[in-house]
Amino acid sequence: MEIKTFSFRAPGVTIFGRGTSKDTGPRAKQLGARKVSIITDKNIVNVGIAEKIVQSIRSANLEVNLFDEIEGEPDIDMIENCVRAVREESPEVIVGLGGGSCMDAAKVVAILLKYGGKVCDYIGTEKVPGKGLPVILLPTTAGTGAEATPNAIVTNKSIKLKQAVVSTYLLPDVAIVDPSFTDTLPPKVTAFTGLDAFTHAFECYICKKASPLTDIIALEAIGLIAQNLREVIKNPDNKQARDKLALGSLLGGIAITNSGTGGVHALAYPLGGTFGIPHGLANAIMLPWVSEFNMPACIHKFAQVAEKMGENTKNLSPEEAAIKAVSAIKKLVEDMPIPSRLRDVGIEKEDIPRLTDLASEVKRLLDNNPRELGVSEIRKIYEKAF
Ligand SMILES: [Fe+2]
Repeated sequence: MEIKTFSFRAPGVTIFGRGTSKDTGPRAKQLGARKVSIITDKNIVNVGIAEKIVQSIRSANLEVNLFDEIEGEPDIDMIENCVRAVREESPEVIVGLGGGSCMDAAKVVAILLKYGGKVCDYIGTEKVPGKGLPVILLPTTAGTGAEATPNAIVTNKSIKLKQAVVSTYLLPDVAIVDPSFTDTLPPKVTAFTGLDAFTHAFECYICKKASPLTDIIALEAIGLIAQNLREVIKNPDNKQARDKLALGSLLGGIAITNSGTGGVHALAYPLGGTFGIPHGLANAIMLPWVSEFNMPACIHKFAQVAEKMGENTKNLSPEEAAIKAVSAIKKLVEDMPIPSRLRDVGIEKEDIPRLTDLASEVKRLLDNNPRELGVSEIRKIYEKAF
């Protein structure tokens, strides 16, 4: 078979390992900072992680200030308020510290500080005119992979939908993944974010934009996450398993940048934008049912997934192995301490037509799904997930 043409993008520098967050100050200095603004949330401040980054920056003899008012998954007003507050500090470098929300906010703030305008001006693909202020991103969950992606997801309250700013210029100058930040995450957050990371790897592996290089990265991430997520839920102090989850999440982010997500994320977006269900949970609920739907379109890849998830596929036909992948995915979600049905998270059966309409609009992701997802297929999947 002919090798597909592909290109590859990643953060300028990627640093991984316990204790590496102390590199933040020296890296900011290298990027030309005299003053650094950290964008984070109150929880990160309360658990003492923000202070570690502040100290690293001060130790490099740089000035630092903190904006800690990112709450939940950021809406456009919240990001624009952040821009106003940070602009007064005139930093040369932006640090995004937290889950996907804080990191995505930091990416957009860095663009708005340089080019002005409103968040809406940049929504869509490659609408950003150039590189913004230099950005360093540090994740505190093992989930979104946002430290390695050119995407920022924002909630547009006026249309009650999540929208995305997607641009190569959103890739950070430096991504620092220090898995020690995930050591104290509560089981629910570990589960939501871990399943989000799994979904990234899995969708990137089977989608239309997958390439030989993303296949290697995504399949490795699938194995790392599937084989360590249960262990971390059972033994939250198992640092080696935490490290492997964090690596899986990073690889998932790199896979998104060079491949992309599909039907699971498309059907999860309205659950977040309209019903306020956390992103990872929305994906976790949709993942088994979209996977079951997609399986016939990529039997061989599903068979590989089954093997990577630790299923015994010896002497099985590709079809039989692929079916095992779907059941392994269902089991992984069921084993997590989270709700697994739409009816358990406040969705009514009457909401399904509206959810279907909204999901049908997420064309960027639906076009990347390996099997065509029309309106009636989307409705049927929501009904199964109900
Ligand atoms: Fe995601």
